[in-house]
Amino acid sequence: MLTWHSEDDTAAFARALAAQPLLANAFLTLHGDLGAGKTTLVRHLLRALGVQGRIKSPTYAVVEPHEAPGLAIWHFDFYRFDDPREWEDAGFRDIFASPGLKLAEWPEKAAALTPPSDLAIHIEAIDDTERKVTLHAPTPLGRSLLQGMTA
Ligand SMILES: Nc1ncnc2c1ncn2[C@@H]1O[C@H](COP(=O)(O)OP(=O)(O)O)[C@@H](O)[C@H]1O
Ligand SMILES: [Mg+2]
Repeated sequence: MLTWHSEDDTAAFARALAAQPLLANAFLTLHGDLGAGKTTLVRHLLRALGVQGRIKSPTYAVVEPHEAPGLAIWHFDFYRFDDPREWEDAGFRDIFASPGLKLAEWPEKAAALTPPSDLAIHIEAIDDTERKVTLHAPTPLGRSLLQGMTA
């Protein structure tokens, strides 16, 4: 369990994550209530990876693609995902079959369709700025990723 006392700590975590080469082909899931800080973490991570310009959040589109130097990134928000047909129609299967970093908010809403999460980041808001964070790394890739961050 980690504590982020402020968004600076969130940003520092994002930088540590961004420094891991294994991130380039990982699937990260973000868990927590509305306002917990899932999108905020993703934005810090995208910046740390070198994404330039305005960072749009996925809303009705469910997924927003990003380009970092040498790395394709897809940021999913499955909050409004409710039609499994969209999985095929919108090309999500193809995205998960492609190399690159995939990030997902509300993965529970597409749980039957997504691959297993490499690193699940659970964020809980304690007050305005403090967050309790729990990490689960169920795959070998996720475990190596975490080991790299704590080494
Ligand atoms: N330590 C922190 N980490 C992440 N967000 C924080 C933190 N402290 C305050 N916040 C604020 O909490 C809000 C989180 O919103 P958001 O990232 O959109 O949440 P979610 O995507 O989980 O619904 C933002 O306004 C952000 O500035
Ligand atoms: Mg969000």
